[in-house]
Amino acid sequence: MKLWGGRFTKETDEAVNAFNASLAFDRRLYEQDIRGSIAHTAMLARQNILTEDEGKQIADGLEGILRDLKQGTLAFDESCEDIHSFVESVLIQRIGDTGKKLHTGRSRNDQVALDMRLYTREQIQTTDRLLKELLTVILQVMEEHVETYMPGFTHLQKAQPVTLAHHLGAYFEMFSRDRSRLFDCHKRMNYCPLGAGALAGTTYPLDRELTASLLDFAGPTRNSMDSVADRDYLAEFLSALSLIMMHLSRFCEEFILWNSNEYGFIELDDTFSTGSSIMPQKKNPDIAELVRGKTGRVYGALMSLLTVMKGLPLAYNKDMQEDKETAFDAMDTAKDCIRLFTGMLATTTFHTDVMERSAARGFANATDAADYLVGRGVPFRDAHGIVGQLVLYCLKKGVSLDELSLEEYQAVSPVFDETIYEAISLKNCVEKRTTLGAPGPDAMRAVMEEYRTLL
Ligand code: ARG
Repeated sequence: MKLWGGRFTKETDEAVNAFNASLAFDRRLYEQDIRGSIAHTAMLARQNILTEDEGKQIADGLEGILRDLKQGTLAFDESCEDIHSFVESVLIQRIGDTGKKLHTGRSRNDQVALDMRLYTREQIQTTDRLLKELLTVILQVMEEHVETYMPGFTHLQKAQPVTLAHHLGAYFEMFSRDRSRLFDCHKRMNYCPLGAGALAGTTYPLDRELTASLLDFAGPTRNSMDSVADRDYLAEFLSALSLIMMHLSRFCEEFILWNSNEYGFIELDDTFSTGSSIMPQKKNPDIAELVRGKTGRVYGALMSLLTVMKGLPLAYNKDMQEDKETAFDAMDTAKDCIRLFTGMLATTTFHTDVMERSAARGFANATDAADYLVGRGVPFRDAHGIVGQLVLYCLKKGVSLDELSLEEYQAVSPVFDETIYEAISLKNCVEKRTTLGAPGPDAMRAVMEEYRTLL
């Protein structure tokens, strides 16, 4: 059934119908659409715009449609323009003329604005729950590895020793910020656009506060034109999802490196790896690669929405129907990626011996050797130069700093004595870093205590 046609004298071109229709993708809003209509009906009846009996007939009819769609006993009618016309036409088929009163004091413009908000609000909540599960797994792994030494990198070159707990803690911070972004976005978007009508409100005595509270919003929106024209909340959510994907993608990149033969820091579980059709020895990190790759789709959805919105005059324009497909894809993609990544992390084996050996090689303790000299009165810049010479000597000889003899140390600076070995041991290098946010085990445990409480 078409919701319009009175002022037309010709049938719409078939290709136009197909091009204009959105049912193929907005059908996923059916529950939000029906729940919105039930709230709208309850308000209309409360305001005596509908009789109590009409309100009940419509509400029962809508509940029936919702039930049947959920159970799969009612099929979507492909000839309908969108989810709104589909639900309304089924209602009229089922309950007759009373069904024609549902759309009193409403437009599809405020209706779709509501549906999309309700859907986005749920997605925000689900995404947040998944992030919380991911954080729980990260924290579990952290707790096991407060004293697992590994190299910290800058420029992908060994820089200073850290611990695995500390490295993972950086991701804990990132995903916690992501959750707080979702929280902000939820708070700002949680206002009900219903009652805005097509753009200028309506002449019916609608109780917008009531509709808003029936749908668990903090209140009604304040400007009817903005209400139907606003998709900021969606752009904010897609932006939050983009950052989540960026964080996952960086984490995946590290996992791919760490899982390589060259690093050997971790081994992905068989359940989260794939093989090669030709090379029998291969066990590939496809899941991590896919998460990294899918990041582009989510960024794309954000760019697409921003571009759709950038030139639109107030208020509603049909361009805005283009907010849906890419946004839905981004929401599905991000949720899948968080889920899969969480599973992959939870099943990964960490080769702590390889990590520690790697931390011991490559001069990650050179800064500590310089700090040792500073502790004995050498100005830092001189200490830096002395250790630089030692490193050069080690490189020529093919050894690491702790493999030099005391004579070799003293040949470069007489300030060294036998305590240097203790000072540049991995354990010492890490344990001395006790400031808040540093990898030292006590500092780390204090922060992890906060994380526990946070979760
Ligand atoms: N399918 C439309 C959308 O997604 C619903 C609103 C239609 N409104 C209109 N005036 N044609 O935006």
